[in-house]
Amino acid sequence: MDIRNRTALVTGGASGLGAATVRRIAACGGHICIMDVQEENGGKLAVELGSTACFIKCDVTDENDVNQAVAKAKELFGAIHFCVNCAGTGWAERTVSKTGSHQLASFEMIVRLNLLGTFNVASKSAFAMSTNEPDENGERGVIVNVASTAAFDGQIGQAAYAASKGAVVGMTLPMARDLSGLGIRVNTIAPGLFKTPLLMSLPPENIKSLNESVPFPKRVGIPDEFSDLVEHLITNSYINGETIRLDGALRMAPK
Ligand SMILES: NC(=O)c1ccc[n+]([C@@H]2O[C@H](COP(=O)([O-])OP(=O)(O)OC[C@H]3O[C@@H](n4cnc5c(N)ncnc54)[C@H](O)[C@@H]3O)[C@@H](O)[C@H]2O)c1
Repeated sequence: MDIRNRTALVTGGASGLGAATVRRIAACGGHICIMDVQEENGGKLAVELGSTACFIKCDVTDENDVNQAVAKAKELFGAIHFCVNCAGTGWAERTVSKTGSHQLASFEMIVRLNLLGTFNVASKSAFAMSTNEPDENGERGVIVNVASTAAFDGQIGQAAYAASKGAVVGMTLPMARDLSGLGIRVNTIAPGLFKTPLLMSLPPENIKSLNESVPFPKRVGIPDEFSDLVEHLITNSYINGETIRLDGALRMAPK
């Protein structure tokens, strides 16, 4: 689907992979609603991009917030064509540690943000997309979800994170099938290691060893490489119901 003059919701758009996606969609001539809880960074990015972008403070796990954000995006730009779900976070906690078993509250928090938050925004965006006039290929919209290679090779301490991301991979095909009659495609990106604020907060020696752990290229990914793939998933009408690993052939070891 052509990006020019069409509108994208980008969750987690204030930082990292989401911010790279926001910049890419703007560079392609699209409009963007940055949906994030980080008001300062999200607001700054929207101001930098000018009238093509807006910031909407929104907690993706909250139904009211998302309903209001989708309504506001429609009011501002007339329609929603793309939804890129980058809001999410990691968590490290073993199933059993010296202090006892994994807290249920932290497991629930991660599943709530990474899985329910993604479905909440994707499903409500899809409903908004369903009212669009189809383009010349019959398309009404495109959804891109973000999982992680942890969906396939989760490490020690990643039970909650891997469960949440595995479920995002698992719902990709059924959502694509659900929405096929409406001309809405659904795909998922499973990133390996990417140079975002999250990763850059690690000590330099850890970053060096992460770079060396990638078979080729021998470095972590850069957010622009992620937004390259988002752009392709939006514009290539034949990719649907797919999860694509973006990881330089990295397969994570147990730890
Ligand atoms: N960076 C990596 O190496 C990597 C690898 C695999 C998967 N991922 C996934 O990619 C996605 C983006 O990661 P990133 O590295 O860009 O992280 P990031 O921390 O830079 O950005 C995440 C953004 O999500 C926002 N957010 C958090 N909770 C939210 C909520 N409830 N509602 C709305 N927004 C919320 C944050 O404010 C932040 O701006 C995440 O789902 C992450 O799990 C990242």
